[in-house]
Amino acid sequence: MAASTFVRRLEGKVALITGGASGIGKATTKLFSRHGAKVVIADIQNDLGRKFCGELEPGSAAFVHCDVTKEADVENAVNTAVTKFGKLDIMHNNAGIGGLNKPSILDSDKTEFEQVVRTNLVGAFLGTKHAARVMIPKRRGSIITTGSGCTVIAGASTHAYTSSKHAMVGLTRSAAVDLGRYGVRVNCVSPHLVATPLACGFYDFSGEELEKVYSAFGGERLTAEDVAEAALFLASDESRYVNGENLLVDGGFTIVNPNLCIFK
Ligand SMILES: NC(=O)c1ccc[n+]([C@@H]2O[C@H](COP(=O)([O-])OP(=O)(O)OC[C@H]3O[C@@H](n4cnc5c(N)ncnc54)[C@H](O)[C@@H]3O)[C@@H](O)[C@H]2O)c1
Repeated sequence: MAASTFVRRLEGKVALITGGASGIGKATTKLFSRHGAKVVIADIQNDLGRKFCGELEPGSAAFVHCDVTKEADVENAVNTAVTKFGKLDIMHNNAGIGGLNKPSILDSDKTEFEQVVRTNLVGAFLGTKHAARVMIPKRRGSIITTGSGCTVIAGASTHAYTSSKHAMVGLTRSAAVDLGRYGVRVNCVSPHLVATPLACGFYDFSGEELEKVYSAFGGERLTAEDVAEAALFLASDESRYVNGENLLVDGGFTIVNPNLCIFK
């Protein structure tokens, strides 16, 4: 049997990944790098980000401190990609926070609500805006935002998180219409639950209750690497006509109501 050839699907491309120091962002950075992209890791966790950057092929990666809630930081991260690697082809607005696990709206605090929206939604807005600034003149680019199952369902997280994630689809679609005119695509990748620091701080992954969360896919757990594969598709030219989509990576979880399901 002939050995299969590994095709580097992002050869020659430059990617910037916010929240790239941990979890889904880290797995995506690794995969993009393996597929030939130069990568810029943008995060507030400097030590973790720099250490991870050092593990990638020398000369192919850079770390930049970037708080996505600050426009100057996002602007600087995009400029770093251009200065260091000559351009920006892929912007992955992935940084996010879960906030405190206080479900009732009566316990929800305004400052915390604003912080979640500022990080998840405003951060993605700033990333999209500054990526567009350098992509429009080139008339190509792929902007990806990490949404969540909470882009389409409610009750799985707090008001702040669900609101921010629903709104991220609105941002994605609005930007897709605007930027599609210039050949720049904007899409969302929306994962189900993955055992990252963010999710483990919110849900108890040792509990039996959690198993039900994976029941829609025969109990198979989702990994950060699975999400990275979906992001790779959106980043690559293979998705060149996909624009304004919300790609759910959830094993079908969000399309079924378990209370009214004939398949037990
Ligand atoms: N883990 C899940 O189950 C899950 C499910 C759906 C969606 N998501 C989304 O995936 C994305 C990544 O989360 P994760 O699960 O990998 O969590 P994670 O905590 O492992 O990674 C999040 C990263 O974002 C960084 N970050 C946080 N605030 C930032 C800021 N202001 N500026 C820059 N970086 C910042 C953190 O330092 C961290 O490195 C988030 O948008 C999250 O909402 C996660």
